Amino acid sequence: MQPKAAEPSPRPSRDAAARLSPVPETMKAIVQTRYGSPEILELREVDTPLLEDHQVLVRVHASSVNPAEWYRVVGPPFARVADGLRRPKRPGIGGDLAGTVVAVGKDVDDVVPGDEVFGIAAASWAEYARARADRVVRKPANASFEEAGAVPIAGLTALQALRDHGRVQPGQKVLINGASGGVGTFAVQIAKALGADVTAVCSTSKVELVRSLGADRVIDYTQEDFTRRGERYDVLIDVAGSRPFRQFARVLTREAMIVLVGGAMNRGLGPLPHLGATIASGLLRSQTVRFFVAKATKEDLGALAGLVEAGEIRAVVERRYELGRAADALRYLGEGHCRAKVVLTV
Ligand SMILES: NC(=O)c1ccc[n+]([C@@H]2O[C@H](COP(=O)([O-])OP(=O)(O)OC[C@H]3O[C@@H](n4cnc5c(N)ncnc54)[C@H](OP(=O)(O)O)[C@@H]3O)[C@@H](O)[C@H]2O)c1
Repeated sequence: MQPKAAEPSPRPSRDAAARLSPVPETMKAIVQTRYGSPEILELREVDTPLLEDHQVLVRVHASSVNPAEWYRVVGPPFARVADGLRRPKRPGIGGDLAGTVVAVGKDVDDVVPGDEVFGIAAASWAEYARARADRVVRKPANASFEEAGAVPIAGLTALQALRDHGRVQPGQKVLINGASGGVGTFAVQIAKALGADVTAVCSTSKVELVRSLGADRVIDYTQEDFTRRGERYDVLIDVAGSRPFRQFARVLTREAMIVLVGGAMNRGLGPLPHLGATIASGLLRSQTVRFFVAKATKEDLGALAGLVEAGEIRAVVERRYELGRAADALRYLGEGHCRAKVVLTV
């Protein structure tokens, strides 16, 4: 826990923030005013957000690109229910962030201006973002802003998939289908940290990367069908959503846990048909199928920070794009074959 700031807590306004550190009235941010393709994203000058009592204002140094932003911009249309059916209700976009706190609301007592943090905030593809204080933690000293900004959403998803939903125990055999993207690269490392025996599935050009992250064996899905191997797994983390349940079932133990994380983003209804079909198939089987949506909690962000500090996990950053090239970054993610993480630098 950080000591409190020597100054009295600021009032939740831009003026108060400016007293602690000069915060400009306006900032550059990526703005989404409609739905469509990544090209609709624009870099604009907008008002710097005002703080509320439970929030911190962060000068963002890095963010990363996640499928959540793809769904928000491109669809499928059902993903717009929460964001606005005809056009986005809020123009800001982005979730992950790493940066320096420049102001805190009056109810915040465990983060102070000057802290280097990482975590989750809406509209983080911007020079400044306001985050709930319980959604940021201290950045590990051994991670750069770019590395830390790549961790939150993908890392939380991998952690919760393995620990909470897969209930992975030391010595269990874990299969990770889709091991080379954002979630998958963290899942391989966290599964090893939990003491599992890890088999990872990815494409040819990423085999060495995934092996270097600690996987006990790596299956190149372009060369070998993992559902035709003799081995059986206690836990399947399905990030890629590339195979139907009846094929998975061939390599699962009777009591296996199947954790559905996602699936193909860029076709029809996105991963929804695969998720629905797998959950329905699971109802008739001895194995347990679970789908979940990752939650941002301070405890789990802290757990990820601890794993980074201990050298048990690291973010692999494949590409860096400046903020103004967010559309290019999102387009690349949408191709569906990222190598670990794509980062935006601010
Ligand atoms: N449930 C949640 O709360 C939650 C949270 C975050 C993300 N997600 C979902 O999880 C999925 C992955 O997210 P991400 O951030 O990891 O995306 P990502 O970084 O774009 O990674 C996707 C990976 O899928 C792999 N892949 C594609 N086809 C494959 C196949 N046939 N077999 C095995 N791997 C394949 C690709 O690797 P190769 O190039 O090696 O094929 C790529 O690296 C998305 O559907 C996303 O929506 C869910």
